[in-house]
Amino acid sequence: MHPCQGKNLPAHRKLSQNGSPCNRKEAPIKPNDYLCRMSTNPMPTSENKKIIIAIDGYSSCGKSTVAKELAQKLGYLFIDSGAMYRAVTLYFLRTERIVDGQVNTSNIDEWLKSVSIEFRFNPDTQHNDIFLNGENVEQEIRQLAVAQNVSQVAAIGKVRQLLVSLQQEMGIKKGIVMDGRDIGTVVFPDAELKIFMTADPVIRAKRRYNEMIARNEAVDFDEILKNINDRDRFDETREESPLRKAEDAVVLDNSHLSRGEQFDWILRKYREIVG
Ligand code: DC
Repeated sequence: MHPCQGKNLPAHRKLSQNGSPCNRKEAPIKPNDYLCRMSTNPMPTSENKKIIIAIDGYSSCGKSTVAKELAQKLGYLFIDSGAMYRAVTLYFLRTERIVDGQVNTSNIDEWLKSVSIEFRFNPDTQHNDIFLNGENVEQEIRQLAVAQNVSQVAAIGKVRQLLVSLQQEMGIKKGIVMDGRDIGTVVFPDAELKIFMTADPVIRAKRRYNEMIARNEAVDFDEILKNINDRDRFDETREESPLRKAEDAVVLDNSHLSRGEQFDWILRKYREIVG
């Protein structure tokens, strides 16, 4: 049995925008209370050597896949920070805050107070799913409509402030692998291991296309490629925490690497630090 199944995990734990408990809920909580470390068969690590691993890079490079595998191997917590930006985007789409690709940012502070984002352990997948206002949106946030609008939402300073503070709380105890765009530069500038992932845009588009076809979604390759190129440009040129490699990050170009090869590469980097 997974350790998290034995734990008395709260059913409805929500965070208000500053990471403190939402006042709709009774018990005070911290993000780490309900987040579950991956631990099917973790590699033995010394407790005092738990580190923070920041994985940043371009969209559709496979950051989350490798971060998830690494967390599983090390018995670390895995957080896909992009999922948090996607969940806020989904909320804005549902509430018609986004019209024709334009985000209405008036009263954004007030709007964000009604957004609660949390991760809950899913015993079927052995991973933490993302919940938006109590609803599991793990699948819905991967749809094209969200992908097409998320860059604009992620460029809003107030949204970033809210999500960065939640992310930092999740890393307080270390032993975390988080992937995103600003993890090594803004969220955890002191992370012990920083990896910056990149790959050829056409190869990335092919990978995403295949994933979507496997999920029986109607997709157009050129549209996916355009979306990837647009997002790269947007992420790199936005004013708020633009995507850039931290000075002390190591670059991993996985265009021509198998999953196994890239995993071994990262594990070697980890061992160089932790021993
Ligand atoms: O990794 P992803 O494709 O799921 O990310 C979705 C969007 O969120 C993408 O446009 C970049 C943005 N993002 C960000 O700005 N900062 C992060 N830490 C993670 C994602």
